[in-house]
Amino acid sequence: MSASDPRSFWEDVYQTRRATSSGQPSAALVRVASGLTPGRALDLGSSNGDDVIWLAQQGWQALGVDISETACNRARQQAEALGLDGRARFEARDLSRGLPEGRFDLVTAFFLQSPVDLARNTILHAGADRVAPGGHLLVLAHAAPPPWASDDMKARAHEMPTVQSELDAIGYTPRQWIQMQAEIVHREGRGPDGTTAQLQDTFVLLQRRAD
Ligand SMILES: C[S@@+](CC[C@H](N)C(=O)[O-])C[C@H]1O[C@@H](n2cnc3c(N)ncnc32)[C@H](O)[C@@H]1O
Repeated sequence: MSASDPRSFWEDVYQTRRATSSGQPSAALVRVASGLTPGRALDLGSSNGDDVIWLAQQGWQALGVDISETACNRARQQAEALGLDGRARFEARDLSRGLPEGRFDLVTAFFLQSPVDLARNTILHAGADRVAPGGHLLVLAHAAPPPWASDDMKARAHEMPTVQSELDAIGYTPRQWIQMQAEIVHREGRGPDGTTAQLQDTFVLLQRRAD
């Protein structure tokens, strides 16, 4: 496999640079899911599992999918240690090749972005298809490179998602979805050298109409 093969690339990330997890869920997830009745949840690009584990702790049956077997194993071990292995499950899978079957009351994708091949728009569209009637879709993405980004990433800033490109990828229509939030949001981020900056994210929260 080449160095830019997605599976090798992300395995290397999780075996080296992201060998530990913060143990903290996404603030956006906490804000959104705290207002929902727990049901079935699917997290696309679940990393070390913090978001799925938090959902399970709130009573959701949550499934995380990530291309990295290492990240999924780490997440499974953590879920087991917390006695949540019945409610927090993890599947190592290349989402570019397809999503798990089923319908989910909440589908999330947090920063499902990659410097190597990723059929992101196809995945978001398929993720939206998995949302059950009345269920929610929450997608956050980096909308601009941080000041500490590589020159290569800065040169490709024009390829980063906009709110409109996210809605297009999802296949949003007002007939099928209620648009609860779709905007650029700002948050403070910390770079590798410890400096902080205001970062821009696209934030899209939709609810599938019940009929
Ligand atoms: C930028 S990280 C974001 C992780 C996490 N959701 C977060 O908010 O911190 C992107 C994640 O997507 C995963 N990923 C990348 N390509 C993938 C693919 N083709 N199929 C499944 N997961 C993938 C990576 O392994 C990584 O965990």
